[in-house]
Amino acid sequence: MKRQVLLLKRRVIIDTDPGIDDALALIFAIHSPELQIEGITIAPGNVKSEIGATNVLRVLDIVGNTAIPVFYGAKAPLFRKLIPATRIHGEDGLGDCGWPTTKRSVMEQSGVDYLIEQVKSSPKELTLICLGPLTNLALAIAKDPDAIALFKEIVIMGGAARVAGNVSPVAEFNFWSDPEAAHQVLEWSKVPLVVIGLDVTRQTLLTPLHLKFLKHQGTPLSDWLVKLTLHYLNIHWELNGIVGCTLNDPLAVLAAFMPELLTFQDYSVDVATDGLCRGQMVVDYTELWGKRRNARLATDVNVDAFLEEFLVRILKDDSVTVDMVHAYLQASELPRT
Ligand code: RIB
Ligand code: CA
Repeated sequence: MKRQVLLLKRRVIIDTDPGIDDALALIFAIHSPELQIEGITIAPGNVKSEIGATNVLRVLDIVGNTAIPVFYGAKAPLFRKLIPATRIHGEDGLGDCGWPTTKRSVMEQSGVDYLIEQVKSSPKELTLICLGPLTNLALAIAKDPDAIALFKEIVIMGGAARVAGNVSPVAEFNFWSDPEAAHQVLEWSKVPLVVIGLDVTRQTLLTPLHLKFLKHQGTPLSDWLVKLTLHYLNIHWELNGIVGCTLNDPLAVLAAFMPELLTFQDYSVDVATDGLCRGQMVVDYTELWGKRRNARLATDVNVDAFLEEFLVRILKDDSVTVDMVHAYLQASELPRT
């Protein structure tokens, strides 16, 4: 008799600023049976909140999951003007490749109140995955710190520890966009904070070979995924001269349900909030500050395993297995010189 493996789903709320890699992360999360997405809140970051909200609804329309409620969060960083990453993500935030518009709209309730209400009603059962600047999380902590302390875990895409930044020599975009929010969240850290920074996400490059695999699937979803990632790939080549695009946000989603593909180390961490090093994540490797270790930093990742899981799950096609993806990539790989 076939044993039914009882899959205990991890209940998550996703805070996001979509953005191309956010869109890939949302599809990856929606198609991962290990996760139950309770709701999505919009953060100002890659795009203005209005565009972010439209993009989440468009992605949910495309994957046919219109049941997940979407909520507006803040309209701007705590103390600063929003500077969207239009060059990277396009005017519409999804690579300007003509995604169909949506007829749906977001919920009335504010995203900050939604976070507080949900975590109070399910104490220690919810994981928050933050894929954009931490403005909404910081506002929720300020409004009801005891409630937000009821999250089981908070996974954050952000920071650059031992590698260069992507928006300044030292700062990663999410922490740079709202450095005060990042500093306040790390100071508060009443819940395990799992930080997925550029140190690991830069290793997870989606390459033209992966796009070729997606193109080969020939489904409406795979066609959208190819259009979306082609823009992202081209801009990585144009701006950084690299052949591949970093799967920042999808890796943060993976950390919520398959952390065994990552290596972590606990450190005392803070974020610089102004001047030359605005948004820099500062890691106290030798404990000079004598402060508690308030963050669990990802220091390494099993890249091939992650990419295979990612490609299989975003397609959500039972005929596409990890072994098949592995064989395809091995067979198609250019001979390593
Ligand atoms: O620095 C990369 C992060 O900033 C990603 O989350 C990307 O979507 C942008 O929000
Ligand atoms: Ca993002």
